[in-house]
Amino acid sequence: MQVAKRLQAVEEYYFSKKLREIDEMNKQGKNVINLGIGSPDLPPHPEVIKVLNEVSAQPEVHGYQSYKGLPLFREAVAGWYKKWYDVELDPATEILPLMGSKEGIMHICMTYLDEGDVALVPNPGYPTYASNIKLTGAEARPYNLNEANNWSPDFEEIEQQDLSKVKLLFVNYTQMPTGKAASTALFEKIIAFAQKHAILVVHDNPYSFILNEKPLSLLSIPGAKEVAVELNSLSKSHNMAGWRMGMMLAGRQRIDEILRFKSNMDSGMFAPLQHAAARALTLGKEWHEELNKIYESRREKVYELLNLLGCSYDKTQTGLFIWAKVPGEYADGYQLADDVLYKSNVFITPGGIFGSEGNNYIRISLCGNQQRFEDSIARLKNVNKE
Ligand SMILES: Cc1ncc(COP(=O)(O)O)c(C=O)c1O
Repeated sequence: MQVAKRLQAVEEYYFSKKLREIDEMNKQGKNVINLGIGSPDLPPHPEVIKVLNEVSAQPEVHGYQSYKGLPLFREAVAGWYKKWYDVELDPATEILPLMGSKEGIMHICMTYLDEGDVALVPNPGYPTYASNIKLTGAEARPYNLNEANNWSPDFEEIEQQDLSKVKLLFVNYTQMPTGKAASTALFEKIIAFAQKHAILVVHDNPYSFILNEKPLSLLSIPGAKEVAVELNSLSKSHNMAGWRMGMMLAGRQRIDEILRFKSNMDSGMFAPLQHAAARALTLGKEWHEELNKIYESRREKVYELLNLLGCSYDKTQTGLFIWAKVPGEYADGYQLADDVLYKSNVFITPGGIFGSEGNNYIRISLCGNQQRFEDSIARLKNVNKE
């Protein structure tokens, strides 16, 4: 069977290929430690599980749900945005529940992009932006993030290009994979650029609670709702990646436009999940502090591991990963990652999979218990001794 032409523009996800290789290695007894994948290993709060159990035991909660989600969940999202980001959202019109923020990326691309349009994507950045843009037939045009521009879009450079076909700009701070934190000054520049060029900004914000004192939303910038859509998620902040609970926040018109597409894709979200997620969003400071304490101690181990590899890194990074520069003796992050995989049976993500500006970097995930980091360090030390 011939697949559609649009699929020819996208490749199999690097991780799915690499995981097959790791499976093969494990079948040979190598017991590879995977420090690559960003799925939180810790459980959600017990109260959240309790609500899921209680609500799913009720007989009347198993039917199709509204495309716009339960009012109870949207109100919880509005309360969460007010409490943590100081952003006012109308729960009736400015919040759209999503099955994880990832699906929102596709909905936005399908709603706004036609063949011939252009969307700007970060290099390095989350590969889903570019693949979803390409699936619509539009062009994903990278803008560079690097040490020289402090991992922030260089709008003067971007403005040298012909922007007449550009409809969307994807941004993501806390940035994945570089760990660059959000700041109000950066967000103001992004909004000013979007206003000047009438471009819709898509801000992907799933990491704002991880190793970060002050979560920030792009929507906190005055005028943002006219030119921006934000995606957020409980995957990382509440250890609920597999639950697929996320949301889109935007002005009413944007939500209505995107819902026109989305309502043709799915038939709402399981009510007990929405009840439980609403409970998760009421968790206080202690929840995030406790989680961050665990990530902090893992981060110390990751620093130790990176020191053994001779990598350099910025300690002001936020989010669920550590981004580190590969030492000069390696051609790039791919070479270092393969070296570590084949000699030490430890998998580390090469930065190049997030775009060419990441070629000389690697990314290590903070997901996984302390022991896995200690075992990885011991394996690296053993190889060094040989
Ligand atoms: C930058 C970025 N955006 C979005 C997502 C998707 O998150 P969700 O689980 O909410 O779909 C990820 C997941 O790894 C991510 O790294």
